[in-house]
Amino acid sequence: MSLLEVRDLHVEFGTRDGTAQAVRGIDFEVGAGETLAVLGESGSGKSVSAQAIMGILDMPPGRITGGEILFQGRNLLTMPPEERRRVRGAHLAMIFQDALSALNPVLTVGYQLGEMYRVHQGASRREARAKAVELMERVRIPGAAQRVGDFPHQFSGGMRQRIMIAMALALEPDLIIADEPTTALDVTVQAQVMDLLAELQREYNMGLILITHDLGVVADVADKIAVMYAGRIVETAPVRELYRQPAHPYTKGLLDSIPRLDRKGQELYAIRGLPPSLLAIPEGCSFNPRCPMAREYCRTEDPPLYDVAAERASACHFWREMFDAR
Ligand SMILES: Nc1ncnc2c1ncn2[C@@H]1O[C@H](COP(=O)(O)OP(=O)(O)OP(=O)(O)O)[C@@H](O)[C@H]1O
Ligand SMILES: [Mg+2]
Repeated sequence: MSLLEVRDLHVEFGTRDGTAQAVRGIDFEVGAGETLAVLGESGSGKSVSAQAIMGILDMPPGRITGGEILFQGRNLLTMPPEERRRVRGAHLAMIFQDALSALNPVLTVGYQLGEMYRVHQGASRREARAKAVELMERVRIPGAAQRVGDFPHQFSGGMRQRIMIAMALALEPDLIIADEPTTALDVTVQAQVMDLLAELQREYNMGLILITHDLGVVADVADKIAVMYAGRIVETAPVRELYRQPAHPYTKGLLDSIPRLDRKGQELYAIRGLPPSLLAIPEGCSFNPRCPMAREYCRTEDPPLYDVAAERASACHFWREMFDAR
């Protein structure tokens, strides 16, 4: 049994102009100690999927119109609210992109970290503070004991992100969802924070869902990747295989648009056009208007997720051609 299993999840938003289909039937699994990277352009449904799992979707305007979210075999979507809150508190945690807005600006970092222990474990103030320092040390904040009384704005962006990781780790969850945890940081700090997250994840044997639009950051830390486009998963693969040989033109486009040292001087590839409006998803394959390989068939026939190899699937009618081209 997987730690988390998402089956045929559908999420819509009611808007003034109609129904936006943000998530249109996605499936994936994450095991203990496993990292799944969820990749895709802005608006592809990554955060909405995460919010649905965490139970923090804005409802309304959002609504989950189908599917199951099985955590340790039990469907979170049909659980009584009370029980769901308990599961979330004890087993799930989330790291957001923007620590400054996720942390409370008027409370010290030590207080906010300690609160987890006071509220959930009935720790005394003194115990909570000691735990907070310990956590800050775990995420390698220099001078933790001196800085436990500082406020969030007194830390650099990278350090604040470490504090977010510390908060997520506090209750030793089974699964962490990190939604663009390093996007706001500069590149070197990004790598440090990502390495730290990966290291702690291994140590605690947690499942990790790492949401990003940057293929560059996931290569070293993820086990497998799900590529999202317009609310669907269009390719899934073990990370190394996906890099070596993408089976979907969208994935290939993303890979070709990563700057690479060995191709210095060459113009960087950009996928033409923009993702579709979720109010008007194209007929046939939703990627067809932007796809360099698209042909007539793609404009009318919506591709299923084809099995292309062990643990690999692609929603491209012509995935075979991509394999043969190499
Ligand atoms: N609260 C909301 N109300 C209405 N529509 C929403 C809401 N939240 C999300 N959506 C819709 O769902 C779509 C998917 O949003 P989501 O936040 O999941 O994108 P994303 O893949 O996380 O993008 P990004 O990389 O920009 O974070 C959006 O295009 C938007 O139209
Ligand atoms: Mg997002």
